[in-house]
Amino acid sequence: MVDVTPKRKIETQPARKETILSGMQPTGSLHVGNLEGALKNWVNLQEKYWMYLCIVDWHSLTAEYKDTGDLKDKIFQMAVDFLAAGLSPEKCAIFIQSEVKEHAELHLIFSMLISVPTLTRLPTFQEKKDQLDSYGFLGYPVLQAADICLYNADKVPVGKDQEKHIWLAKDLAIRFNNTFQKVFNEPEVLLTEIPLILGSDNRKMSKSFDNHIPLDYTEKQTEKRLLQYYTDPKKVRKGDPGRPEICPIYLLHKLYTPGHKQEIAPPCRTGELGCVDCKKKLVQNLNDALRPIREKRAELIKKPDYIWDVLEDGASRARHRAQNVMEKVRTAMKTNYRKEKK
Ligand code: TRP
Repeated sequence: MVDVTPKRKIETQPARKETILSGMQPTGSLHVGNLEGALKNWVNLQEKYWMYLCIVDWHSLTAEYKDTGDLKDKIFQMAVDFLAAGLSPEKCAIFIQSEVKEHAELHLIFSMLISVPTLTRLPTFQEKKDQLDSYGFLGYPVLQAADICLYNADKVPVGKDQEKHIWLAKDLAIRFNNTFQKVFNEPEVLLTEIPLILGSDNRKMSKSFDNHIPLDYTEKQTEKRLLQYYTDPKKVRKGDPGRPEICPIYLLHKLYTPGHKQEIAPPCRTGELGCVDCKKKLVQNLNDALRPIREKRAELIKKPDYIWDVLEDGASRARHRAQNVMEKVRTAMKTNYRKEKK
């Protein structure tokens, strides 16, 4: 019998899932700033996209090429936090950059397509050029472009400070396509609204300032850190009026205390709520929010083999895709010397 049912291919086929790639330097265990600035966003994105998350160990060498002894542990701790925060190895390939050698190959090819003055003009280079003047550091954004284009990523979720690097990746993709033939997608920035999170000294929360709240802190350590926090210097004791808008503790309440607008800001302003009591409320709410992540972390840390397996599996999935793209790159460049002409 002849099948006469119309083929409704377009409607039944799922839309092509777009690919997202992001990267993070291995800094070891993560903190509340990383959780709010990146991890939570990635956990949401993994539901909708093919996700590649690259732990960029080669990038970290641009700043600390001598200090490599603790790199392995930093990678491990970071992978544990990725999983504890809810990233799923089924939905997202988590891998180590140096385990997919194609990153280095594409970096080398891209390095031919960009001029030195273009790289020296980038603000990220200008900011640090007095401390970091290596060839490797100059090429940092080129390696980042390779990370992105190697997977033909459609979107790259990053904060505003990284926007220029993504434009550069797009520029390199276009340049390659125009010079040889079309291999690359043009990646776009997926600008992440990063909430402002300050550390205990009122500077940006960062491990290097030691002003941070690590996810692997105990509840007691969290309490201690919060009690050390900077607050409005004009509010010396309970009864003095405070200014929540300049207080880093209030920034955290905004994220972790649902009723902050009524319960925290007004009594702070009138002086009724003292800083110690205000911090204690935050201790409670922050510890409540972090508890599931900490419990999962404690479980995962007992299974190092599992963590290394997740990274290996991520690398093999990444490699598969990367090798495919590199094959096309070599064909486009006519450097696939041993492949027979079809
Ligand atoms: N440069 C990024 C940062 O400092 C890290 C990074 C490396 C990255 N490769 C990437 C981010 C590719 C997004 C995509 O945060």
